[in-house]
Amino acid sequence: MGRAAGVQIIRWCGEEARTTPWRGDCSTALLSPVAGASGPSIAFLSRCLDELAAHGFSKVLTSALGPLEQTPYMRAGFRVEERLVVLSRGLAHLPPPPRTPGICLRRGRRADRAQVLAVDHLAFSEFWRLDQRGLGEALAATPRSRWRVAVSGTGVVVGYAVTGRAGRRGFLQRLAVHPAHRGRGVGTALVLDGLRWLRRWQAEQVLVNTQVGNSGALALYEGLGFHPGPPGLSVLSAGLSP
Ligand SMILES: CC(C)(COP(=O)(O)OP(=O)(O)OC[C@H]1O[C@@H](n2cnc3c(N)ncnc32)[C@H](O)[C@@H]1OP(=O)(O)O)[C@@H](O)C(=O)NCCC(=O)NCCS
Repeated sequence: MGRAAGVQIIRWCGEEARTTPWRGDCSTALLSPVAGASGPSIAFLSRCLDELAAHGFSKVLTSALGPLEQTPYMRAGFRVEERLVVLSRGLAHLPPPPRTPGICLRRGRRADRAQVLAVDHLAFSEFWRLDQRGLGEALAATPRSRWRVAVSGTGVVVGYAVTGRAGRRGFLQRLAVHPAHRGRGVGTALVLDGLRWLRRWQAEQVLVNTQVGNSGALALYEGLGFHPGPPGLSVLSAGLSP
């Protein structure tokens, strides 16, 4: 396993994969094979599991994979960790932003990071929480991104959103509202802010994915005109024994 800027690289018989600790958890690795036309081979994935176990990881995760992409992983011993649903909508017609008295939206700043991560921590279960690095990755995941925070009258961050843009496509990368401030339109205001930004830059479609069981987020997105796509997208995992 070779190292490149903190990223571990596994190379074997012409195939290659990147691995990084999952959101700062040094016992869990995120495995991202470098895309080839036919996807990673079962033999290569087995090799990756052996190498990661030898480096002390006890679990490995994939990024979100479509049904066909999952086949070699399942054959190499991976199982479904989380089922996701992808929702999308066009950007031609957007509803007006809701009234959110006492809350304003502004650009996220470096100094907001600690508060943003605290909100993220309260909003998500351990598996999905972001750390500093994960927030940086969400902001850098697309060529252009918009980071907005929702702030109370006393200057406290009560929610945030990261929206990304790549060409004509937009992505809602991250959305979280402090549990004590939910149900007041903050999530809707953050999403619509991102959608207006995307439309301003001529994006035509926006995508978001969330866990199949995340009924609050699904209700919010569907209420804003997003349509769920076909099922089958999943994050896979495999346990590793030393
Ligand atoms: C999803 C989330 C961002 C919603 O934030 P919010 O500020 O409460 O959202 P809003 O007040 O704008 O709600 C808008 C609509 O979404 C729906 N909704 C939001 N939360 C809901 C819940 N828990 N159950 C059912 N419907 C819900 C409702 O239709 C609501 O409209 P209504 O209040 O008129 O009924 C917030 O619950 C959260 O941070 N969840 C955890 C993190 C998360 O799941 N993020 C999205 C991951 S993709």
